[in-house]
Amino acid sequence: MDIQNQAQSPSELIDRYRRRVSYLRISVTDRCDLRCVYCMSENMKFLPRESLLTLEEIIQVGRSFVDLGVHKIRITGGEPLHRRDILKVFRELGELDGLRELALTTNGTQLPKFAHELREAGVSRINVSLDTLRPDRYTAITRNGRIERVFAGLDAAQDAGFSRIKLNAVILKNRNHDEIHELVAFAIERGIDISFIEEMPLGVVGDHDRAECYYSSDQIREDLGAHYTLVPTAENTGGPSRYFRVPGVETRIGFISPHSHNFCETCNRVRLTSEGRLLLCLGQEHSVDLRRVVRGNPGDDEALKRAIVASMDIKPRGHDFNLHEAPVIFRHMNHTGG
Ligand code: GTP
Ligand code: 5AD
Ligand code: SF4
Repeated sequence: MDIQNQAQSPSELIDRYRRRVSYLRISVTDRCDLRCVYCMSENMKFLPRESLLTLEEIIQVGRSFVDLGVHKIRITGGEPLHRRDILKVFRELGELDGLRELALTTNGTQLPKFAHELREAGVSRINVSLDTLRPDRYTAITRNGRIERVFAGLDAAQDAGFSRIKLNAVILKNRNHDEIHELVAFAIERGIDISFIEEMPLGVVGDHDRAECYYSSDQIREDLGAHYTLVPTAENTGGPSRYFRVPGVETRIGFISPHSHNFCETCNRVRLTSEGRLLLCLGQEHSVDLRRVVRGNPGDDEALKRAIVASMDIKPRGHDFNLHEAPVIFRHMNHTGG
């Protein structure tokens, strides 16, 4: 008798460094209507559709993680709202007992179509990527996007009643670093949050030198200090942002600083790629092929849970990002959605 196969899965996921995994990020497609310069190269080859997990398989993996104590799931891409029939995933995950937060990271262009149904499906928070407020710059940074679509998407999300919408702005020196103050003013005017992100060296993007374009969170804070008083808070969304507040306004200003303020020590998350690879760290390649487990054991959540529990033993201590060297992780960000 296989004793291991008889054992009950524990109800918590704890790794070798005693970190508890409570947050699963699921990338449902690597495709996107945009080609952001920090995320993709100009000519991307996308995965064949047959290699993707089916919607049912995605739901099965999400359900198994929730059984193992995960209470936050974020759906990402590529652009997740481009996956056909994706609302089914939101609806079914939204029904799971034990899931406290079902969140979405999107480029916003499809929100006019989906915002109301996402809200009805139980999505609690939406993060929207927006690095600039200037139409020409937006088109340059996304290599083809139209900014009015994102503004329309934000309107739709606010009309649908989403609160605590968060903008994500990747700041690159000499591309958009001069707009930090305007981006904060925009977030305040709309009553939404904003996070400023240091670019991470994932995949070859062929657009800029990442070391030359580095703009640190501390520099951003210093720049903002000329316009606002920033008060540190202990607020935590379960993600990597360190939040500050401007007295008297609702907006939280977050900093995601993988280079200058490494947050790996408190990492609570793992990622599922659209092909069903469970990545234990954004900045390393340690992974488990959950698609193989799901397809090799049809309908057997226990086998899947055992594989997930076992994966905790290979979760690395943290990333080794180095902006001054060629990327050592060839995977582009659209495979994990951040
Ligand atoms: P909330 O805190 O729930 O609002 O979300 P989040 O900031 O965790 O997620 P989001 O999808 O908005 O990602 C924002 C940025 O954080 C992206 O650039 C992600 O790549 C980055 N990020 C999220 N988790 C990690 C992580 O574990 N390590 C690193 N290095 N970056 C991360
Ligand atoms: N470094 C940092 N953030 C990135 N994103 C995409 N590529 C990168 C990168 N190389 C951000 C997007 C999106 C989030 C999921 O990840 O702006 O908001
Ligand atoms: Fe698409 Fe997001 Fe990558 Fe931009 S960052 S190309 S919106 S997946």
